[in-house]
Amino acid sequence: MQLSTQRLLLRTWKAEDRVAFAAMNSDARVMEHFPALLTSAQSDALAQRIELALCESGYGLWALEVPGVAEFIGFAGLSVPRQALPCMPCVEVGWRLAQPYWGYGYASEAARASLEFAFERAGLEEVVSFTALGNHRSRAVMERIGMGNSGEDFDHPAVPSGHAARRHCLYRISRNHWLRSGERAIVTIS
Ligand SMILES: CC(C)(COP(=O)(O)OP(=O)(O)OC[C@H]1O[C@@H](n2cnc3c(N)ncnc32)[C@H](O)[C@@H]1OP(=O)(O)O)[C@@H](O)C(=O)NCCC(=O)NCCS
Repeated sequence: MQLSTQRLLLRTWKAEDRVAFAAMNSDARVMEHFPALLTSAQSDALAQRIELALCESGYGLWALEVPGVAEFIGFAGLSVPRQALPCMPCVEVGWRLAQPYWGYGYASEAARASLEFAFERAGLEEVVSFTALGNHRSRAVMERIGMGNSGEDFDHPAVPSGHAARRHCLYRISRNHWLRSGERAIVTIS
């Protein structure tokens, strides 16, 4: 299953995506708010986990393509956190884009499509998102798509204590809140 929006294709992953994905995961600007850069092997393993989750549940972290512009710019979509977090059980909306594609509204457009899928297709009642307190670009995406800061800051268990990215904020949006916003981003689902 793939979703198209005005400018984007949210699709399943291709073997060819891995090289660009590894480059992005080894870029210090992209990984500024994560504990470490990923090696190529770690990046491939992450892509494999993402593909498996997409395959198993019919939704997940889709590969992002900008038709006519770039075959792969990163990922966005829905995921179930692997670590034990205070917000669990929950489904997260998340995003990671290669740096040349920041500043075009692509992450927010893909995130809006992901929320629409979550509430209209997957039948979820709530979606959360979380990030390191200092990740202002990611927080701006959350706010742009109508999520609210819950005030439930927490220490992410996968980030070593003492690391600047350990303290996280948690944003939430309910199905009812999303319905009231009237936002729609998906053009087709095929
Ligand atoms: C988080 C991340 C996806 C945000 O990317 P981003 O480009 O800032 O967000 P968007 O794609 O929504 O783009 C919004 C910007 O595009 C601009 N823009 C330009 N053209 C636009 C258009 N046609 N429509 C909408 N916005 C547009 C907006 O004005 C905004 O600019 P601003 O940041 O100067 O205010 C990106 O920084 C990233 O991948 N970071 C590394 C990974 C990461 O931290 N992920 C989150 C971990 S929880």
